[in-house]
Order: sequence, then structure tokens, then C-alpha cells
Amino acid sequence: MAMNHDVSPFLSLVQQRNSCRTFDPERPVPREDITACLEAARLAPSACNQQPWRFVIVDDMHIRQAFFDHARLPGIPHLWWSTVPVFVAVCCQRNVVTHRIASFVSGLPYAWMDTAIAAEHFVLAAAERDLGTCWIGWFNEKQVKKLLGIPRGTRVAALIALGYPSETSSEGSSSRKPIEDIASWNAWDGDSLS
Ligand SMILES: Cc1cc2nc3c(=O)[nH]c(=O)nc-3n(C[C@H](O)[C@H](O)[C@H](O)COP(=O)(O)O)c2cc1C
Repeated sequence: MAMNHDVSPFLSLVQQRNSCRTFDPERPVPREDITACLEAARLAPSACNQQPWRFVIVDDMHIRQAFFDHARLPGIPHLWWSTVPVFVAVCCQRNVVTHRIASFVSGLPYAWMDTAIAAEHFVLAAAERDLGTCWIGWFNEKQVKKLLGIPRGTRVAALIALGYPSETSSEGSSSRKPIEDIASWNAWDGDSLS
């Protein structure tokens, strides 16, 4: 991993992560590495410590092919899915009683928030191992649930594509808004798009 020593190791890791959409299909990802990423996900914070996330790791080639054949949605071709060595189905258990009550009262989707935090822990742990990832939100949830036997009451929040980037992968970092556009001190100071 190329580290920029002008910043902290953590910030450097965050800076070097970017979405990978060109994988080396010949280079399998050792399950121990995936387990290490799961450990990072496991340690994520969650509302009332309910840990509503579940991860289904798909390294079986037949299921990956079925994802390619049946779980893509129209509009974005996602042809690069054919090179993805591992998919991670990031699942969110919606039947946690405390979450349901708390979300009903506050209107905030705690289970989704918790699940996304855990998934990003996974992604950053993968980046630390020079593994490429890409969050995928544009997928056919019904088909993924069917293919993996995911029960009612559990939603698939995202897929994460995981693998070693191909030698030819040339994706750079995407631009970001400057800090002054995303944060303010002590009072709201943004545009009126809320
Ligand atoms: C919730 C979520 C859903 C996303 N869905 C997709 C997707 O369906 N397909 C895709 O190619 N990238 C997807 N992305 C990746 C974003 O396009 C990418 O993170 C963004 O453009 C910033 O680029 P970077 O990750 O390289 O920094 C998704 C990212 C997030 C966080």
C-alpha cells in the first residue's frame, strides 16, 4: 500500500481507498483476509449495540455468475461484475425490536446506519490489505435474496465487490467537496437544499 507520510496512517488509508471496478479474476482472495475484514466490521459501533448487520460472502463462482446474470439492474450495465472475485452481501436485520421502536419515535433508520458503518469498516480493512472494493447499491435485491436464501425481515443494504485490482486498473480518486462546503462551526451554514 502506498502511504503518504505527511498525514496520519489512518488518513492516508482513507485517501488511498477508491472504488475499484477492474479486478484480477485470476487472483483469489484468501478467506483469512476476508475474515480479518469481517473482524473490523464486527467492531463497528451500533445504536444500542444491537449489531444488526450480517455479511454473506460469495466466493462461489456459480453464485457470482448468477449475480451477473440475474442481479444487475437496467440503466447501469455493470459489466465489470464478471471480473469480481468476491461479492459481499451486506445485510441489515430489520426486525430488531429496539431499533424498530427507536426508529419509529425518532424517524431515524438506525439499522441501516449501523450496517453502513460496519460495511465501511470492512472496506477500509480491505484497503489496508491492498484489496480493491466497490460499494454497489444498484442491484436487484429480490434476486440476491433469492440466490442467497436471505430471510424476510432482512434487507440487503449493498453489495461490496472485493478482490485484487487488475494490473491495468487505472481508477484514480474522485473529487470531493471542500471542507467549508460540508461543515460549519456552531450553526448551519449550508445551502438551502435540506
Ligand atoms: C451506497 C453506495 C452505493 C454505490 N453504488 C454503486 C453502484 O451501484 N455502482 C458503482 O459502480 N459504484 C457505486 N458506488 C460507488 C460510488 O460511485 C463511489 O464511491 C463514488 O463515485 C466516489 O468514488 P470513490 O469511491 O472512488 O472515491 C456506490 C457507493 C456507495 C457509498
